[in-house]
Amino acid sequence: MRTNIESLDWNIGRTIQSKDREGRKTIDDVFDENTLKNIQQMFSRGIISTLENIIATGKEANVFRAKTFDGRNRAVKIYRQNTATFRKLEKYIEGDPRFKSSGNSHRERVFTWAQKEYKNLHSMHASGTNVPKPFHVHKNIVVMQYMGWRYRPYPTIRELIPEDPKNFLNDLLISINSYRKNKLSHGDLSEYNILNVREKPYIIDVGQAVPEGHPLYKELHTRDMKNMYRYWRKQIPNLEKEIFE
Ligand SMILES: Nc1ncnc2c1ncn2[C@@H]1O[C@H](COP(=O)(O)OP(=O)(O)OP(=O)(O)O)[C@@H](O)[C@H]1O
Ligand SMILES: [Mg+2]
Repeated sequence: MRTNIESLDWNIGRTIQSKDREGRKTIDDVFDENTLKNIQQMFSRGIISTLENIIATGKEANVFRAKTFDGRNRAVKIYRQNTATFRKLEKYIEGDPRFKSSGNSHRERVFTWAQKEYKNLHSMHASGTNVPKPFHVHKNIVVMQYMGWRYRPYPTIRELIPEDPKNFLNDLLISINSYRKNKLSHGDLSEYNILNVREKPYIIDVGQAVPEGHPLYKELHTRDMKNMYRYWRKQIPNLEKEIFE
């Protein structure tokens, strides 16, 4: 085990590799022992070769830029196994016909959640929605297309308001209609979860999305559309509310 973690430290790359006390602390904060093992398994299976820089630290997950063995960038979302806030996510899994059980232990429930984000990305991508293309899911880790330039992810539309909001919104509505045709509700659609990728919308953070038949299917979409109207009315004068239905 020790040697695995040592080699992982080495693999983790420039930002969080340092062996000094501060560096060690960052590594311990972000990765529990089991997560280190899961990352090591991805390295040895050849899915990714290094973790480069950390992009985001959230309550439930941390996102990294990673490299494949042939030098391509990937975004790697690692769900925390030690988080107390996971409970509130249960309601998005229960009632989802794609998952018979959310898992028997806390750890299994986190794995189910990662599976769910992967499946949602996969269906949305297949239906033509602009989402990062999913590549792999392993235990609590989802590997997907990296939406960024060099070491920086593209900004959210909260951070960078589109130059031509009408056009941007039009593209976004096409993406939303695509996953709606495929009978999914995103469930957390807001200006925080839409990236401005060189003036094209990309929807992210799809873990909580639910299919038709789930008890929250309608309610979540209604809330999403409310959020969208609230954001877009500030960017587009005289925007009609009806387009968000
Ligand atoms: N595929 C990706 N490519 C580039 N950056 C990404 C990608 N996915 C996520 N990010 C970055 O990581 C941040 C957090 O991602 P995401 O919203 O999926 O995670 P989260 O932990 O659920 O976040 P939050 O709890 O803040 O909603 C995004 O705002 C974005 O900056
Ligand atoms: Mg988010």
